[in-house]
Amino acid sequence: MLKIAIVIGSTRPGGHGKVVGQWAYNIAQKRDDADFTLLDIADFNLPLLDEPMPAMSGGRYTQDHTRNWSAAIASFDGYVFVTPEYNHGTSGALKNAIDFLYQEWSNKAAGFIAYGYSMGARAVESLRLIMGSLEVATVRAQVGLSLFTDFEQGVAFTPAAMQEGNLRTVLDQVIAWSGALKTLRVEAKTTTMGRAVRARRSRADSRLCGAEPHDDYQSRPRRQTVNKDLGVWTYQDCALVLIDYQKEMFEVIRSETKADLVELNVRLLARTAKAFNMPIVLSTVGVQYKINGPTRPAILADLPGVPVIDRTSMNAFEDDAFRAAVTKTGRKRLIFGGLHTEICLTFATWKR
Ligand SMILES: Cc1cc2nc3c(=O)[nH]c(=O)nc-3n(C[C@H](O)[C@H](O)[C@H](O)COP(=O)(O)O)c2cc1C
Repeated sequence: MLKIAIVIGSTRPGGHGKVVGQWAYNIAQKRDDADFTLLDIADFNLPLLDEPMPAMSGGRYTQDHTRNWSAAIASFDGYVFVTPEYNHGTSGALKNAIDFLYQEWSNKAAGFIAYGYSMGARAVESLRLIMGSLEVATVRAQVGLSLFTDFEQGVAFTPAAMQEGNLRTVLDQVIAWSGALKTLRVEAKTTTMGRAVRARRSRADSRLCGAEPHDDYQSRPRRQTVNKDLGVWTYQDCALVLIDYQKEMFEVIRSETKADLVELNVRLLARTAKAFNMPIVLSTVGVQYKINGPTRPAILADLPGVPVIDRTSMNAFEDDAFRAAVTKTGRKRLIFGGLHTEICLTFATWKR
């Protein structure tokens, strides 16, 4: 089950953060598609940033309060930040708490509930920029609470009826993206493990060759990266092959997964491949003969400049252009994406 934290980002005594956070939590916890926790940054007693090393440089924390905060944040798949607007931005306390960590936030999703005279709109915009730097994907929907209309005389919290619906949309989007991004984190972990193993092996090789112990393995010529013993696939060894993500194929998906989520996963896969500079081969079937439509537009939009190879054959490898494109990648390990294991993928991988 996905774990989502509702993070109260205001520490002002008597501030509205707690009551707004509690309102969101009461609604969220009725859902059965994720586990929710209400997290108040005030409970972590974080001082102004007092770690000598930036979190981005590897999370070598020296303080117990940082370790506690790190453990809490690392345990979630996504976040809903409750933020006040202070001077056209988020609160200093929340920004400070965010800055304590890095890796713990990365490749996760976030949504926002903001409040203030201007519905906290600028606080959310400032947070979106900060989240971008931390590699957190922020969802479009947000809850904006006005001190004029959602609080009685700016004090008692009386949210307008529509705010619950707004919150539901935020939660829907955060849950969908948190689930999709979880797969990316699993992939990154595998890659990191492979890198660590290679580094160890390289250091051992240096010793055998009589190289100086300080000889930096990274400055040596790159060798074959595929680790046969572990079977770890690295991005340097792989190409991504996307097969037949067309409207007609989406229409006949019979699993429980919604088409929109499948599409989101494919787009994340494509973006990941691009981020790692992996070659991508994109193919469709039956477009030129008007049997099927083209690749779904949202997927195409994530693949600018990638040529589409349209085929008449079900077996992709029977198509000369497809075969040539795969060969041209120079990669021996192919990651295939397709909608139907019995058609799109079987025929695409079936090389006679
Ligand atoms: C230091 C400070 C700056 C503020 N700046 C803004 C602002 O720029 N825009 C706005 O709409 N409200 C602003 N407000 C109003 C707050 O958004 C509002 O008082 C809110 O309840 C504060 O959150 P809190 O109750 O959690 O402290 C500001 C309030 C404070 C204390």
